Amino acid sequence: MPTGRRFDIVLFGATGFTGQLTAEYLARHAPEGLRWALAGRNPAKLAAVRDRLGVDVETLTADVTDPASIAAVAEATRVVITTVGPYLEYGDVLVGACAEAGTDYVDLTGEPEFVDRTYLRYHSRAVETGARLVHACGFDSIPYDLGVLYTVQQLPVGVPLTVDCYFAVSASFSGGTFQSTITAFSRLREMQKAAAERKKVEPRPQRRVRGRGRPGRVAEIGRWAVPLPTIDPQIVLRSARALDRYGPDFSYGHHLAVKRLPSALGFAGAGLGLMGLAQVPPVRRWLLDRKKSGDGPDAAQRARSWFKVTLIGTGGGERVVTEIAGGDPGYDETSKMLAESALCLAFDELPAVAGQLTTAVAMGDKLIHRLVAAGIEFRVLSPVDGQTV
Ligand SMILES: NC(=O)c1ccc[n+]([C@@H]2O[C@H](COP(=O)([O-])OP(=O)(O)OC[C@H]3O[C@@H](n4cnc5c(N)ncnc54)[C@H](OP(=O)(O)O)[C@@H]3O)[C@@H](O)[C@H]2O)c1
Repeated sequence: MPTGRRFDIVLFGATGFTGQLTAEYLARHAPEGLRWALAGRNPAKLAAVRDRLGVDVETLTADVTDPASIAAVAEATRVVITTVGPYLEYGDVLVGACAEAGTDYVDLTGEPEFVDRTYLRYHSRAVETGARLVHACGFDSIPYDLGVLYTVQQLPVGVPLTVDCYFAVSASFSGGTFQSTITAFSRLREMQKAAAERKKVEPRPQRRVRGRGRPGRVAEIGRWAVPLPTIDPQIVLRSARALDRYGPDFSYGHHLAVKRLPSALGFAGAGLGLMGLAQVPPVRRWLLDRKKSGDGPDAAQRARSWFKVTLIGTGGGERVVTEIAGGDPGYDETSKMLAESALCLAFDELPAVAGQLTTAVAMGDKLIHRLVAAGIEFRVLSPVDGQTV
């Protein structure tokens, strides 16, 4: 962790939809004496955010098209939070600047290609400088990454383990999320290429770690399960490769859980349809115009939103069911998760690791404790009792 910096935390993208919610969270929950600043490309918008929040913090002007301004942000602080996305479009320069400056970094990306590319470009340099580069510190992928860690910790040590995850959400999404999703959908080939390049160079442990997942009815939770190949299972498996606690043979299944079969089929069809449409440039441009950057669900919509992640873990003859739950997944809880991740990196006693890391590897239990204190539920639903839920 670098010393002698002007700030503990700089929030880049503070004028965006999720950036403003993150600024609000920090304004309300920052520990006494936190040295933090708001950063973005538009000084007038930044000043308006600062005035609305009534906080006495500096504002820094930085634009991703001006690498020197981004380097200045990375060099001014111990930790950078960024909500400037789509990350595939805007994110690379800041990750590079943080790796170079030895500055810790957290973001909200759910874009696998971006994470694989930054691994290839900046992981080694970050290991040298001590920077901890932690992607996906929002609803992608904290409830899964830390939820699986929490579940594994309830099971015996040194045995093969299996965790199946079933998540349910009721929520809407922002313009930024829509733009990022369509951008990622339009680059499936590039995504596969980046994943293959990463696989060639990334060290793999001797232990067995693999994904699983089957569509179908899951009687125990009374829902239909649809396996989802999002970034979340990739992050969980990365944590499993890095941490011995996941056992000599670990497998993980990641599923959306819905009440009725037609919803499951509708969801799968809509996802595939959108993916197909995003391949055609004029249709993609039309889609991107439908929901603009800066828009997002209002406070009343967010207050009605919720998420629930059920995890069923088995191993060594034992079985446990856990649940991670909270309010609006995409924005209220995401801004909380992101801000607490940055505070955790800035102030908690953590493992001596560096480079591109997952939340489970970089912060683990310390971040779980922070999230529980901030109102996100992590609980064991069934005791480790053999078979019953
Ligand atoms: N995975 C999750 O759980 C999760 C949840 C929520 C959001 N997200 C992701 O977070 C990202 C932000 O979402 P959002 O809805 O908050 O987006 P948004 O409202 O569109 O905000 C984007 C931000 O990027 C800034 N920006 C754009 N171009 C820039 C540039 N050249 N230099 C510096 N800043 C620039 C914008 O500044 P201006 O205000 O000046 O335009 C704005 O502050 C998206 O990628 C989204 O997918 C992920």
